[in-house]
Amino acid sequence: MASSSDFKYNFVSHKGFNLISGTHDPAEVDAICNYEVRDSDVFVVTYPKSGTIWMQQILRLIEAKGDLTSEELNSDQVPWIELQGKGKEFVEAPSPRLRVTHLPYHLMPHALSQKKGKVIYVARNPKDVLVSYFHFHKFATMLETPKDFNHFFEKFIRGDVYGNSWFEHTKSWYAHQDNMQFLFITYEEMIQDLRSSVKRISSFLGKNLTDAQLTEVVKHSTFKNMRVIPQANYEMVPDDLLNHHNGKFMRKGTIGDWKNHFTVNQNEIFDQIFQKEMKEFPVSFVWDIKDIEQITV
Ligand code: A3P
Repeated sequence: MASSSDFKYNFVSHKGFNLISGTHDPAEVDAICNYEVRDSDVFVVTYPKSGTIWMQQILRLIEAKGDLTSEELNSDQVPWIELQGKGKEFVEAPSPRLRVTHLPYHLMPHALSQKKGKVIYVARNPKDVLVSYFHFHKFATMLETPKDFNHFFEKFIRGDVYGNSWFEHTKSWYAHQDNMQFLFITYEEMIQDLRSSVKRISSFLGKNLTDAQLTEVVKHSTFKNMRVIPQANYEMVPDDLLNHHNGKFMRKGTIGDWKNHFTVNQNEIFDQIFQKEMKEFPVSFVWDIKDIEQITV
């Protein structure tokens, strides 16, 4: 039974985290923390819009040693652990079990903190997350369509979205990293140097790829190439869940699009909140594509 249920829009607030009714079942989510974890399990953890599908693609390609010819990217190969009906499948699945999740640390398997399995946390600068999430709300039918950007801006700052507060999600996962086999990587690092990022990820996973295999993984993970893969845009998801006429998963794929959306006032408000919330956080974020020297892959 859910410990607390407070219906708000289409959310069920469960143990301090918004679940989406019809998409998540609180009782199934509750079962996750007691799942047994195998050493070979890999969990990609993200706040929404931080590069989840990108990492799904990279993991699957690393597993296939860069070979995309056998099967196209399919989210079923790296499924969501928290989706309704996916729990039983996880328990029974053969190794290696590769999963993605937006869940907070406290709802994930306790066994992770005994260094069982591996966690890859992908973080992205929150201004770009906010913008990407705003556009996503316009085509994800399970989420409330924002009245306008300002309205969504306020909701995001309040944490009144799926994923709750970006600040809490990022800080809480990061704070527990010493208990886990944990890799923290940013979206911006991946934009800057995809090849080095893929190398870091594969070495964390204990997978030795040849240079040629690495080249293939990188080639099939660039925005340009993923953009045209129907599965990377979740085009197989029916229109009643994602209205594909109103948007695309592979939207801009860059750093700094927030500059085309934030007003000067919104930017000041955001900066103040960011400084207050993240002052102890040891990682700095990149806010503008011009601030990095992009390595061409
Ligand atoms: P934008 O909306 O800013 O373009 P998620 O998978 O967590 O929902 O994140 C989606 C965001 O990741 C989108 O951001 C999408 O374009 C971006 N993305 C996905 N694959 C990418 C890639 N290969 N390179 C750069 N960005 C990518």
